[in-house]
Amino acid sequence: MADGSSETKSSNQMWGGRFASGPDAIMEEINASIGFDKKLYAQDIRGSIAHATMLAHQGIISVEDKDKIVHGLDTILSEIESGVFEFSRRLEDIHMNVEARLAALIGPAAGRLHTARSRNDQVALDFRLWVKEELQRTERALTALIGAFLDRAEEHADTVMPGFTHLQTAQPVTFGHHCMAYVEMFGRDRSRVRHAIEHMDECPIGAAALAGTGFPIDRHMTAKALGFREPTRNSIDTVSDRDFALEFLSIASIAATHLSRLAEEIVIWSTPQFGFIRLSDAFSTGSSIMPQKKNPDAAELVRAKTGRINGSLIALLTVMKGLPLAYSKDMQEDKEQVFDAAESLELAIAAMTGMVRDMTVRADRMKAAAGSGYSTATDLADWLVREAGLPFRDAHHVTGRAVALAEQKGCDLADLSLADLQAINPAITDKVFDVLTVEASVASRTSFGGTAPAEVLKQIAWWRARN
Ligand code: ARG
Repeated sequence: MADGSSETKSSNQMWGGRFASGPDAIMEEINASIGFDKKLYAQDIRGSIAHATMLAHQGIISVEDKDKIVHGLDTILSEIESGVFEFSRRLEDIHMNVEARLAALIGPAAGRLHTARSRNDQVALDFRLWVKEELQRTERALTALIGAFLDRAEEHADTVMPGFTHLQTAQPVTFGHHCMAYVEMFGRDRSRVRHAIEHMDECPIGAAALAGTGFPIDRHMTAKALGFREPTRNSIDTVSDRDFALEFLSIASIAATHLSRLAEEIVIWSTPQFGFIRLSDAFSTGSSIMPQKKNPDAAELVRAKTGRINGSLIALLTVMKGLPLAYSKDMQEDKEQVFDAAESLELAIAAMTGMVRDMTVRADRMKAAAGSGYSTATDLADWLVREAGLPFRDAHHVTGRAVALAEQKGCDLADLSLADLQAINPAITDKVFDVLTVEASVASRTSFGGTAPAEVLKQIAWWRARN
């Protein structure tokens, strides 16, 4: 056994000095976190090695003891990684599981490791290291997703599709432009991730239980060894702060919201009614009763993961909201929320990256839809302003009458005759037909950030240089 103890109700060997007997079974069950915090083993061991090295450097423990500790911790790391380590619930959490095993391996020197530290700063360190690494994974995953969108945007810089507001056809846009909207969204998510990494780049170890320590530790040394910019500045805040976890969950919730909107569009676009895209067999499933069906399950599940991730954010905010300073055991509930959200987010981003690369874009369907619904009405109004000198409000009114006429005749704006148009406003000439096609419409929108293919290509180049 890692803890070297039997399953009798003896008091805890790590903190049981003042306890005559061990915990009730239900106490042990509610108290133990090893079931989930074993995920932090690598961070825990790294943190302990840095701490022991600093203690020896400062003359707080001997170099011989430090060497034994470091060697023992290395052994434990390989035991855990090779699956032979036995985790014990009686030892509550990862910190005490590792320390008990260290004692079994190296004897009394193990007891010196916990000098000038507490599990409060230890867990704050382990968890912060884990979240920081997760943020780095998220950054890479978002970069891959952005890359997928950039490729599709370039390929479809002049593929015309309807742009929507209220999910009603508004004006023609390009599919490339639409893809680039997601690049902007995921680009913001990625910059939030980078900012959060900056923000949390302070090392908690050495805050001890909450008040700091009287031992002559060097917190700058441990901070540097563990890859942090600097140590945290207030020991009370250090052990009570879970902002880094909340920031991760907030960022995850916003990113998941973007993924969910994309998922919703994929669901809509892949219906036979829209038919804008087709997902390959690799990203769809069939129905057990309706042979004709091909369902976008991956997109639907991405949409659903968002509910889960948002739930984690609300759960941890609610755990934290009433806690007096500094540490309370409530905070042990932080990890499962973050682990679950991280797993869901990673999966959702990967699935989306796969779908964006996989989907077949049906340019013919998009173009047909782009031309319907009087999508170039604004182009007619703009033409009247530009070429006939009408005030925009009057041009809007004239165009409205043209739309009504087309509707009455059951045709598109471009199908009205010049005579029909001139009956509405005599200033209209046959030049107007040049602006009524969807291609002319998108090509004309050259304002910065607009949908004109040339402009979209500029935005793609801007992002390529930053991805
Ligand atoms: N398992 C605990 C947690 O996750 C570690 C810290 C325990 N600290 C304490 N004072 N009981 O928060």
